Amino acid sequence: MSTIRNIVILTGAGVSAESGIDTFRDGGGLWEQHRVEDVATPEAFARDPELVQRFYDMRREAIQTKQPNAAHHALARLDSEWSGNLLIVTQNVDDLHERAGAKRVLHMHGEHLNAWCTACDVRSRWTGPLIDGPACPACGERALRPDVVWFGEIPYRMEEIFAALQEADLFVSIGTSGAVYPAAGFVRNARDLGVATLELNLEPSQGTLWFDEARHGPASEVVPAWVDEMLS
Ligand code: APR
Repeated sequence: MSTIRNIVILTGAGVSAESGIDTFRDGGGLWEQHRVEDVATPEAFARDPELVQRFYDMRREAIQTKQPNAAHHALARLDSEWSGNLLIVTQNVDDLHERAGAKRVLHMHGEHLNAWCTACDVRSRWTGPLIDGPACPACGERALRPDVVWFGEIPYRMEEIFAALQEADLFVSIGTSGAVYPAAGFVRNARDLGVATLELNLEPSQGTLWFDEARHGPASEVVPAWVDEMLS
């Protein structure tokens, strides 16, 4: 491990599963109760803004009742103790990484606890509902939408992510199915750059064959064990 200085970590819904937040594609997962195209697309928002706002109001409220689990805490410990570069790129829109104390976090799919004004483009921290069309704190317009990247929209801060991968010695993918691009392609970008790759997931992901190494089990077990190894 001594040759490893710079780490990029990708997390997905599996890292928050044991905190009680539904994943998307596991049995009974979020998308099994809702058709993606009905709630997580710009077209859905244009067609039925109330349905979409209600869906995200429910999610925004739900995540505030959840707590970080041992995987979040282990990653926060690694973040605070790792002297090299470290970036946690999360697909998750919950704030459990931050609530566990992680600092170097990048939300490529946005955040439930932000509202994005479609009039002035300002993003404001938002913990309440949006269904009743509240005024934007910056411009006063009643034009706030969830600050979540929907299907068909461009994930945030991709240049920063690719720059971090260029510098990385290790890419670790945690709790993601490898079903959704561009995140699902990061392991191949890493391999093309000669970066070592590790998958920590409950079960083999769709991209598991691209990883140099894969360890399977619940994140609350496999992530703390890996962090202990990295910090020993
Ligand atoms: N520990 C570790 N991994 C787990 C656990 C657990 N306790 N429980 C489930 N998993 C794994 C599943 O095996 C699966 O591979 O987490 C992964 C969850 O996959 P998805 O539900 O597809 O979630 P994710 O990969 O984050 O989805 C990516 O798709 O719907 C969009 O924007 C949404 O960010 C999301 C993106």
